[in-house]
Amino acid sequence: MSFKELSSLIKARRAIYPNMYIDKPIADLLIVQILENANWAPTHKKTEPWRFKIFKGESLHKLSSYLGDYYSKHTPKEKFSEIKLKKTLRKPLQSGCVIAICMYNDPNVTIPEWEEIAAVSCAVQNMWLSCTTLNIGCYWSSPASITNAKDFLGLSENERCLGLFYMGYTNATLIPGQRKPIQDKIEWLK
Ligand SMILES: Cc1cc2nc3c(=O)[nH]c(=O)nc-3n(C[C@H](O)[C@H](O)[C@H](O)COP(=O)(O)O)c2cc1C
Repeated sequence: MSFKELSSLIKARRAIYPNMYIDKPIADLLIVQILENANWAPTHKKTEPWRFKIFKGESLHKLSSYLGDYYSKHTPKEKFSEIKLKKTLRKPLQSGCVIAICMYNDPNVTIPEWEEIAAVSCAVQNMWLSCTTLNIGCYWSSPASITNAKDFLGLSENERCLGLFYMGYTNATLIPGQRKPIQDKIEWLK
């Protein structure tokens, strides 16, 4: 792959939401191949801290109920919106699969937690770019309901969840992303 092709792929990657997914299943094998790319992210001390829980089929209903219940229980009355609740319930059901992005912090390895979060984030970028090449829309969602879902996800003491990765085939025409110029974020020290 040329630098030009890679640059195009990076710039074509977008956050694509479940209401833009079509009703087409994502094959288990393809999901594993996408996660195989995640597995090649860089890590300090080769800890490979990413862990993934894949919601597909019936389990998407369980996830939907969990997210809906959490929203209903934790939203103050004056902020509660029936529309938001419906949207929360609907999102997993509109998806081909939803992957809980989890992190295992090995207590025997002394590296700061931020480095493990950084490594998991690199893994997610690998997934995101992979999906872009496959016409699979996806995005990283990080509501409190899931970052506090230790029990629901059955995580161990040394694991935490950093969000949900929603995925679904899409044929939406995407508006190109926008970024402020890189020149504003660079300082040369020559
Ligand atoms: C760590 C992380 C957490 C995110 N959490 C959310 C979220 O909770 N809700 C949401 O709508 N988008 C979330 N996003 C997606 C961003 O909103 C999206 O990437 C951003 O708007 C830039 O758009 P683009 O990805 O299409 O370039 C998250 C992205 C990252 C990297």
